[in-house]
Amino acid sequence: MPFSPPIWFDTLDSTNTVLKQMVVDNSQLPSGTVLATHYQTNGRGRLSRQWQSASGENLTFSALLRTNIDSIALPSLPLVIGVGLVNALETYNMHAQLKWPNDVLVDHKKIAGVLVELLPSPDGKMANCIIGIGFNINMSLDSANIINQPTTSLLIELNQTYAVQLVLDNLLIHLDKAITLWEEKGFAAIKPNWLKHAVSLNTQVTINNTINDTTTGIHRGIGPSGEIILEALDGTITTHFCGDLSL
Ligand code: BTN
Repeated sequence: MPFSPPIWFDTLDSTNTVLKQMVVDNSQLPSGTVLATHYQTNGRGRLSRQWQSASGENLTFSALLRTNIDSIALPSLPLVIGVGLVNALETYNMHAQLKWPNDVLVDHKKIAGVLVELLPSPDGKMANCIIGIGFNINMSLDSANIINQPTTSLLIELNQTYAVQLVLDNLLIHLDKAITLWEEKGFAAIKPNWLKHAVSLNTQVTINNTINDTTTGIHRGIGPSGEIILEALDGTITTHFCGDLSL
């Protein structure tokens, strides 16, 4: 799934919101379209949270993927993106972990987050996926410390600044490889790599779902659609397609 050269903006509301509107306005907008911005005035995270990123410091972008993969596989897309991001980080000699469903961590601090949103497709065949990624590049320690969860960046970890546009070009190469493998061979071809980097495998976690139910158990694996598998103390197995995981 090749990406087009990114279209860069100084400021946008949210690259996900703007790209979504572009798809609604133009049903022919090509798959692989990428919007990136140096600053978002209304950056959004998962579960209606905000995504904070100071102007010019970090990478915030969204890509359109139109795919005819079986809809049963779609919930695994955020995990596929996580694998692409971890592979890209390896090229900076950084060994990242993945926290289900789609946080990328370095030493338990978040360096990147993924917000995948699906749009109904007019023909009912292709799924339109908006893949939004926030990736901390030149975020200073001071900026990281005001975020309400442990946060890091390439600068904090490697003590070096990076050209944000070049990092995006590198990420797109690795995202392309992961998405192409997923489309050609299915999530089963990506899952071993995801599990290899899983921060919580075989440890106790709690999933808080969108209606505020919590389930605690040992993280035993990932199902065929990207759902997390937990084993409770009494041996009961449950699977979860969405929610917030605490370690
Ligand atoms: C999360 O970790 O909760 C997901 C964060 C996703 C943030 C990115 S930044 C680019 C794109 N536009 C948005 O408004 N959100 C995503």
